[in-house]
Amino acid sequence: MIEPRIHSYGTVESTNDIAIEMLRRGEPEGTVVTALSQSNGRGRRGRNWFDRSGDCALMSMIFTPNVHISRMHELSFVVSLGVANFLALVHGLKPALKWPNDILVDERKIVGILVETVDRLGAVAGIGLNVNQIEFPDEIKDSAISLRILTGGCFEIDEQVRGLSEWILKVYEEYLARGFDFTLTRWRERMWGLGKRVEISMTGNVIIGTIDGVDLSGALIIKGEDGKTQAVHAADAVRMRQKER
Ligand code: BTN
Repeated sequence: MIEPRIHSYGTVESTNDIAIEMLRRGEPEGTVVTALSQSNGRGRRGRNWFDRSGDCALMSMIFTPNVHISRMHELSFVVSLGVANFLALVHGLKPALKWPNDILVDERKIVGILVETVDRLGAVAGIGLNVNQIEFPDEIKDSAISLRILTGGCFEIDEQVRGLSEWILKVYEEYLARGFDFTLTRWRERMWGLGKRVEISMTGNVIIGTIDGVDLSGALIIKGEDGKTQAVHAADAVRMRQKER
């Protein structure tokens, strides 16, 4: 069993940066970097991730699976499934996995995940879980949610980081032992938006269609009006399409 080895910091620029550095120095998988706050937290597609000290579980985990670099993105599914299992089985929530790796509860984002591949050495998965926020900045107040808003409880951040680490490593070990198919089958059971009409934006291009699933390469399958399916490998945003009038 891989045991989490947790390194805790005060304020850092980004826990992902520290974990990447540790991976380069040869720290083993299961190493976790956590911090009270980040001054330059990174989100997906060049966005920032803001936090207020003590409100958010901020952590980055090192993975060194023995797979080709082209398969490192599978870790997004492993990590998001581990986090969703933690939210469902420890906190009694109904998390929905929104491709590629957001986690929603009641249609609002509670977790953001950023997986960064580090040459051929492995990858670092950064996780930001909204824990104790009672309100959010205006830009995200309609789209974000926290454990506290959902359950009424106030939580120890360290306990959340340990719990998340253990649940993620459990899914990771199953992935190593049984393969990506096994993980993906379980991921699909918690998938957000199956059968929903969505609008997908990708660098200057928009696709409209119905979510049909995820294929074995991890691509999102979209069915167009004409019934033809298309695999989407990367996107800037996936939004529910409002009903046409
Ligand atoms: C996203 O939804 O855009 C992904 C956000 C990932 C944020 C986490 S917080 C801990 C780790 N360190 C970072 O700099 N980013 C990730």
